[in-house]
Amino acid sequence: MMAVVIPLVGALTCFILWFGWMRRDRKVNIHRDEELELGLEGNNSEFTFFNFSQVLEATINFSVENKLGQGGFGPVYKGKLPDGLEIAIKRLASHSGQGFREFKNEVRLIAKLQHRNLVRLIGCCSQGEEKMLVYEYLPNKSLDFFIFDETRRTLLSWNQRLIIIEGTAQGLLYLHKHSRLRVIHRDVKASNILLDSEMNPKISDFGLAKMFSSNDSEGNTKRVVGTYGYMAPEYASEGLYSIKSDVFSFGVLILEILNGKRNSGFHQYKDFLNLLGYAWQLWSEGRWPELVDTSLVTESHPTLEMMRCINIALLCVQENAADRPTMSEVVAMLSSTSMVLPTPKHPAYFHVRVAKEEASTSAEPCSVYDMTISSPRGR
Ligand SMILES: Nc1ncnc2c1ncn2[C@@H]1O[C@H](COP(=O)(O)OP(=O)(O)O)[C@@H](O)[C@H]1O
Ligand SMILES: *[C@@H]1O[C@H](CO)[C@@H](O)[C@H](O)[C@H]1NC(C)=O
Ligand SMILES: *[C@@H]1O[C@H](CO)[C@@H](O)[C@H](O)[C@H]1NC(C)=O
Ligand SMILES: *[C@@H]1O[C@H](CO)[C@@H](O)[C@H](O)[C@H]1NC(C)=O
Ligand SMILES: *[C@@H]1O[C@H](CO)[C@@H](O)[C@H](O)[C@H]1NC(C)=O
Ligand SMILES: *[C@@H]1O[C@H](CO)[C@@H](O)[C@H](O)[C@H]1NC(C)=O
Ligand SMILES: [Mg+2]
Repeated sequence: MMAVVIPLVGALTCFILWFGWMRRDRKVNIHRDEELELGLEGNNSEFTFFNFSQVLEATINFSVENKLGQGGFGPVYKGKLPDGLEIAIKRLASHSGQGFREFKNEVRLIAKLQHRNLVRLIGCCSQGEEKMLVYEYLPNKSLDFFIFDETRRTLLSWNQRLIIIEGTAQGLLYLHKHSRLRVIHRDVKASNILLDSEMNPKISDFGLAKMFSSNDSEGNTKRVVGTYGYMAPEYASEGLYSIKSDVFSFGVLILEILNGKRNSGFHQYKDFLNLLGYAWQLWSEGRWPELVDTSLVTESHPTLEMMRCINIALLCVQENAADRPTMSEVVAMLSSTSMVLPTPKHPAYFHVRVAKEEASTSAEPCSVYDMTISSPRGR
């Protein structure tokens, strides 16, 4: 009897041990597959998960003095890590109710996007409902701080502005085409172009729009995330977005950089309510030099380079998305001085004019025009 039971128990024990070991091995493999899927096999060790107390310490309890600004996704604070690294923490306002795991994965994917013209995402923090993104800190604020200010505008020479235009184009090209994930920014605007210590442009808030509308398909979104004045007509009215709606916003941005005024909301351009209509009229009448910021013209006469930039901008803001160039075409046009540029068709919103009786009262500055809208849309 014993002679039978002992080997049986022994065999059973061996089997159980072996089975348990196999299961553990499989678990390890699954884990590794997930990491591969997340693209963590490479050099992503620099991504950090911060706990809430570390964030509090870095921002001195989210002190008012450390607040850098307030955007549509929530306030941004400056912070300093114990090792001295300066960071910017975006405290996301309302969130889509994503769990920690989904949020973590989404943020890790965004962190994989790395290019010299993109703001680097260093890590994130999640405390209950509260979610935060941790970015590298850029010391020279954002482009809007310079170009829309009467005196600071003069600090940006034409060459610097051209570097900003070209760098932004490269960053967008990377997002649209060369990154592993294809990303449509959906909120390209002057305040999302940050400037490093040498005034090189770095695009911020990429990948955020997707996180705030995780349940969309085929570019028809339930949530419009964008900013008045920069939104392509098909996006503003139908919620349809594509790489061409980013191209539209980029075109608006070029015109603002050249002209030094916001597209809409703050200014009137003769009897036009927006820069697009005004630019189109001047261009059609061959008076494009009038569009160029006067602080640029004192430095040198309006150049062919400026004219080519206006031409490219007008191609980007054409009403019909199919007529707009892709970012690779934009980059090619920007880098050539001899390539013959197509003739633009009329832009979107070009016919929006001021009614006669309104024309005398000047438009009130209205900060709402610079806010990111993140509103649910009915479908
Ligand atoms: N990484 C950063 N470094 C320095 N300043 C930043 C950074 N990110 C954002 N900011 C500042 O915080 C402000 C608010 O940013 P954000 O929430 O993106 O709002 P918006 O882009 O709608 O203005 C920006 O205008 C910018 O000046
Ligand atoms: C990872 O980064 C280190 C230095 O940061 C570098 O030496 C190494 O070659 C990188 N490895 C890969 C696979 O990119
Ligand atoms: C937060 O992280 C730091 C460093 O990793 C650690 O020392 C600290 O105990 C953590 N705090 C909490 C509340 O988990
Ligand atoms: C932050 O707040 C905590 C508790 O609310 C407090 O103990 C701590 O001293 C504060 N830190 C600073 C730097 O104010
Ligand atoms: C940009 O930042 C650098 C370093 O912080 C500073 O020296 C430089 O003056 C800044 N440039 C402008 C135009 O503010
Ligand atoms: C996303 O939309 C689909 C149908 O359009 C729905 O079945 C699903 O539950 C939605 N998911 C979330 C997280 O809202
Ligand atoms: Mg922003």
